[in-house]
Amino acid sequence: MPPKPNWKLHVESFIEGYHIRHAHPETFFPLGFDNLNVVELCGPHARVTYPFRRIERLRDVPPADRDPSQVMSYLYHVFPNTIVSVLSHHTNVLLLDPVSTGQTRQIMFQLAHGNDDAALEDARRDADFVTTTGVNEDLALVTSIQRSLKTGANDHLTFGKFEAAIAHFHKTLSEALPRHRLTRGSIAEPAHAAHPDALPGQTALLCDQLTPAMRNNDCGKQTVMITRPSASRW
Ligand SMILES: [Fe+2]
Repeated sequence: MPPKPNWKLHVESFIEGYHIRHAHPETFFPLGFDNLNVVELCGPHARVTYPFRRIERLRDVPPADRDPSQVMSYLYHVFPNTIVSVLSHHTNVLLLDPVSTGQTRQIMFQLAHGNDDAALEDARRDADFVTTTGVNEDLALVTSIQRSLKTGANDHLTFGKFEAAIAHFHKTLSEALPRHRLTRGSIAEPAHAAHPDALPGQTALLCDQLTPAMRNNDCGKQTVMITRPSASRW
């Protein structure tokens, strides 16, 4: 049986946009842009805004008359394990419930943006499109990543400038977990020598590798600690 994705991989798949072109070439990508999104951090949470290509229609609309609700989708990561996706005609609330390190129970609520028949029909159409196409494409992707992690080929992962929300998520999670649980069963070798605050099983990301947005939200700390995949524990 193939490994089932860890809940954190599911979270990651929602809060960065550069995978869209490659993972959703015929579903989401034709509607959106390539690697264009806005990441906003709020405490432990994050919002990633993805514009649709049809946002171009607003160029000729006076700013006061612009309605962004139909030209952008909003992904809220409510720390730690809830994703709220505000789409054009419906909102998905997805709870990612960890069963084990390699298994996640998903609980989804789909909410229509309106009570009349037309609103419900629009919501059903949107929800069907999302759940029968993009969700499956993301599941294939995170399943592949989970399979790669289990090989042990990579002893750590470094998140890049397009993954500010993911780095924030792991940093926040590392800080939230009691140290004895984070380190239990993890790699025994020393942490990154240049960063004495790093825990066993963590590697450190230098602040100059971070985007300005990440630095501004780093609470004055000079590093972001990234938990090694093999050290991840719930
Ligand atoms: Fe995706």
